[in-house]
Amino acid sequence: MFEHNSLCQLLQIRYPIIQGGMVWVSGWKLASAVSNAGGLGVIGAGSMTPDLLMEHIQQCKLATRLPFGVNIPLIYKYSEEFVNICVQQKVPVVITSAGNPKTYTEILKREGIKVIHVVSSTLFAQKAEQAGVDAVVAEGFEAGGHNGREETTTMVLVPSVVRAISIPVVAAGGIATGCQMLAALVLGAAGVQIGTRFIVAKESSAHENFKKLVVEGKEGDTLLCLKKIVPTRLFKNQLFNRIAQKENEGATSEELKLLIGEYKPRLGMFEGDVENGMIEVGQNISLINKTQTAQEIVDELIDEFQKVSKNLTNLK
Ligand SMILES: Cc1cc2nc3c(=O)[nH]c(=O)nc-3n(C[C@H](O)[C@H](O)[C@H](O)COP(=O)(O)O)c2cc1C
Repeated sequence: MFEHNSLCQLLQIRYPIIQGGMVWVSGWKLASAVSNAGGLGVIGAGSMTPDLLMEHIQQCKLATRLPFGVNIPLIYKYSEEFVNICVQQKVPVVITSAGNPKTYTEILKREGIKVIHVVSSTLFAQKAEQAGVDAVVAEGFEAGGHNGREETTTMVLVPSVVRAISIPVVAAGGIATGCQMLAALVLGAAGVQIGTRFIVAKESSAHENFKKLVVEGKEGDTLLCLKKIVPTRLFKNQLFNRIAQKENEGATSEELKLLIGEYKPRLGMFEGDVENGMIEVGQNISLINKTQTAQEIVDELIDEFQKVSKNLTNLK
């Protein structure tokens, strides 16, 4: 299975599953476990210092011989240092997001690093292809964390991006099961990037309170907010209510920035204050009801993918 899959060939992985880089959640333990399970594990550098990233890359190399990646949000203050670290450490794959893919793609590719860029619109996908990236992640409105301004859903975004560019497209946003993965491939994606489902992996560094929230979460528990700063899908907790109230009162970007502060994502996702901290999570929270190891998650995705694809003939 997947021998002819363009994403598997590009990244030298067994299954076309990328574990999305996630601030405060995906360190070397999760990344190496996903890579060992046959997907591409990704270290989320967006909450790290350069020293810490270096340590995570070195630990990841010790824990897996298989390819892994580093996610660099380009708006982050250390992005240039992170690029240099990835080059120096010969990280196999870099996934960039939240910024201009032109900035570092050439430098990374010159060093033999595969570059993937995350986009939320067809126009940005075309620009990423022009910038020379190897693949794009087309991330729809359902996704946890930072999101597109235009609120395009994965169902609409993926086929539109597939039509517009000729490099592999990875679908993201709202994918938590094997049948959703199959649906994404039917829409023309070469693979999937999954975030929220991996929060509950035993190897993730999400606080246990955060994992419990995801396991118990229901449909409608997340909403997009902060469109004035960076549109972000958050869990509806006390902090969310304070943000929503401020937004309704017409708060400026500066006032909103002050309210969320730099510390709130760490407080919620890493330290476990799930009421006063920021909880980035996707709509598919309602489909996740247990914690598992990364290996169990990947196995279950593939198992369901295979079963559902066999049963597809019953639809006709
Ligand atoms: C807790 C959390 C943190 C995230 N942090 C990042 C990040 O630092 N950089 C990034 O490019 N995407 C980030 N994302 C997005 C994921 O990489 C992934 O694309 C997204 O979660 C896929 O949608 P899903 O949550 O519906 O599976 C984050 C998502 C979550 C849930």
